[in-house]
Amino acid sequence: MIQIPKRLAAMAEYIHWGERVADIGTDHGLLPIFLFNQKISPKVILSDIRPGPLEKAKANLLAYSPEMAADLRLGNGLETLRSGEVDTVVIAGMGGMMITEILAKDQKKTRSFRKYILQPRNGQDKLRIWLYKNGYTVNKERLVKEGNHICEVRCYFSTKIPCSKN
Ligand SMILES: C[S@@+](CC[C@H](N)C(=O)[O-])C[C@H]1O[C@@H](n2cnc3c(N)ncnc32)[C@H](O)[C@@H]1O
Repeated sequence: MIQIPKRLAAMAEYIHWGERVADIGTDHGLLPIFLFNQKISPKVILSDIRPGPLEKAKANLLAYSPEMAADLRLGNGLETLRSGEVDTVVIAGMGGMMITEILAKDQKKTRSFRKYILQPRNGQDKLRIWLYKNGYTVNKERLVKEGNHICEVRCYFSTKIPCSKN
């Protein structure tokens, strides 16, 4: 069985059986491979802006889950997804500013995905303010220690009606 670090395991706990998941900035691909392996997610998309990380993800896929149909996608942020194609989007291990840019780029598409698991490395305050102003609601949150870092893991729901911009 594939072993994943505590930070990734904390994110996996927020994903429920049957949810289709896209991991944006997947790098090693361990979280989506784990979700497929454990039969939690029937469909996982591994997406990254650089080919190198996708090669790493492909190697892990072959090692841990050779039966899994690879859905590796190269591109920026949510651009690799079609609207509503998955239930849950994971964006983890990037700066909060970068995550905000990804979410803000095409808001109609961003809202077409019901749930977000976000794990910013820094710039958490800016990301949280953007999410609040745009009507995303926190469902669950927790802190996980990884090495010398305390990592925030949050689960948000997108809503159709944004909150007031005050
Ligand atoms: C530090 S790794 C995080 C890997 C994994 N998500 C995790 O949390 O362990 C960040 C990854 O995000 C990718 N990335 C950075 N900007 C991106 C963007 N705009 N769209 C998609 N991927 C991006 C990088 O290429 C890199 O593979």
